[in-house]
Amino acid sequence: MCGIVGAILKEGAVLRGMIEGLRVLEYRGYDSSGVAIAGPQGLLVQKKAGRLEELENVLAETQFPDGLAGIGHTRWATHGPPTDVNAHPHTDTDRTIAVVHNGIIENYLELREELSASGSRFLSDTDTEVLTHLIAREALEGSLVDAVLRALGRVRGHYAIAVLRPGAQPEVVCARHGPPLCIGLSKEGAWLGSDILALIPHTRNVIFLEDGDVAELKVDSIVVRDLEGNLLERTAQRVDWDAEQVGKGSWPHFMIKEIHEQPDVLAQTAFHRLDDESGDVKFEEAGWTDEVLQGVERIQIVACGTALHAGYTARHLIEGLARVPVDLDFASEFRYRDPILVPGTLAIGISQSGETADSLAALRRARELGARTACICNVAGSTMVRECDAALMTHAGPEIGVASTKAFVAQLVAAYLLAIRIGRARGQLSADEGRVLLQDLRLLRPKMESLLSKKFLARMIEIAERHRGVKGFLFLGRGINYPIALEGALKLKEISYMHAEGYAAGEMKHGPIALVEAWMTTVVITGHGLLAEKVRSNIEQVRARGGPVIAVGADRESLELADEAIEVPDCNEWLSPILNVIPLQLLSYEVARLRGCDIDKPRNLAKSVTVE
Ligand code: AGP
Repeated sequence: MCGIVGAILKEGAVLRGMIEGLRVLEYRGYDSSGVAIAGPQGLLVQKKAGRLEELENVLAETQFPDGLAGIGHTRWATHGPPTDVNAHPHTDTDRTIAVVHNGIIENYLELREELSASGSRFLSDTDTEVLTHLIAREALEGSLVDAVLRALGRVRGHYAIAVLRPGAQPEVVCARHGPPLCIGLSKEGAWLGSDILALIPHTRNVIFLEDGDVAELKVDSIVVRDLEGNLLERTAQRVDWDAEQVGKGSWPHFMIKEIHEQPDVLAQTAFHRLDDESGDVKFEEAGWTDEVLQGVERIQIVACGTALHAGYTARHLIEGLARVPVDLDFASEFRYRDPILVPGTLAIGISQSGETADSLAALRRARELGARTACICNVAGSTMVRECDAALMTHAGPEIGVASTKAFVAQLVAAYLLAIRIGRARGQLSADEGRVLLQDLRLLRPKMESLLSKKFLARMIEIAERHRGVKGFLFLGRGINYPIALEGALKLKEISYMHAEGYAAGEMKHGPIALVEAWMTTVVITGHGLLAEKVRSNIEQVRARGGPVIAVGADRESLELADEAIEVPDCNEWLSPILNVIPLQLLSYEVARLRGCDIDKPRNLAKSVTVE
């Protein structure tokens, strides 16, 4: 869960581009950072605990020299606390090479013993340093790439690494086994990065390395080999994200920028796919044909965190609109619990990044058990997209805020489209029913926009001010809005560090009601149809026990019963989660802002969890 950058250029200086790359990768880890440059006299290394600004300050104060080749790293600690010494890059005893690493070297203890016995001096607590000494020992003779190949042959674990050796012709080599890594050639030279965000300021033609790939970056070419040293053909893919999307513009935080992008995300994810003539959706991606979908007996969804909450909603949508049974599990549970999959199972992973280690492992397990695999994913070229039999892209654009917002909404929209597609393919929905559902989706955009108006935002700030000091929050929802209760609680806890629990409203009397008191705010998402009445009685039960209630939704009667009402435009029930989640995202954002939290980089979290 660290960010890696690197480059080798024909002329000019590498440092600025690397720092810019690290800035956009900081979402992957932000407890320390560092850079190594191949200088004329050898390696120059600077590293610093804390945010990237700390490193930038030291680089400026020390007038750190620049060079034509370098590597850099932003860390999320796994082995050893976030200190200057444990920060990457790591060097060997004679400082002949520098290494940055994302992942875990599982056999590092035995390798460390062996290397210590033969004279290597270890300075840090990291597993990465072992790899550094190992490569340096192999690099005494021959090329750096050969040394890396030999060293990797001794290593067990997961890694994305970049290695730098200074000299008359500096060498930059990178390798991947697990965590993502991509590379690209620009007019200036060759670049590497943990994801495309670091590369798009330089090139839009990107090679996504595959597991077992080792790449040697040269100023005008890139050579990719497998772990045995055999040459491989890897074709660059054109990436359609813009460099501007990676910036915050005039917004104070990426999170609020991304919340405001959601009406556009709805359009980007859906509108080009709606086909009124057939009352169906048309996916540009392969693998979603009538024939394939008619053969599906059961769907198994696997995901983590916010993406799992989208999965809960997808279950309602697919079961409700397409009448296919859906099971759902935390990817981290599914992968280890010896699951039973019936023949005809379609396993669907949901992921913003497409790199979440547990979700990837769960999909691989499902495949081993005979399932066809598919994903709903935001990042083209990601491991999940490449490994699945079919992918449904969410087109939300780059999401930088650690708290997922627009990617979640895009996942909900994609799930709605998928439910329609499956329903139409299996004859569960008529063309007329399909057309109504498509039209409802189109009408959603102005409704989403109304939840981002100045007036609405001012109201959310007022509510946040009144509740920022309570002991904790309970979020309750039912039916298709139960996952929105889970998501509201997750959002609040991850960025404001306040205790928050999401519950199915019907479960309240089985335990959580004991928490209700004047300093515990209950946020209730109002229901539709039959459930509206049930949710109303939940509100009354909380209020009768002196607990303040914020009601969110379209059911007027529920809103009238609550202490604070957040009215959301009405829409068909299937789409209500998309509207209901927006006020909850804003509430979390405003509470966190008022409490002075670091909204885009919450403590202990990283955006992309590429290790277990
Ligand atoms: C969301 O706010 C979280 N930061 C987190 O739960 C996230 O959704 C989860 O780690 C899954 O990530 P993915 O979508 O990239 O797989």
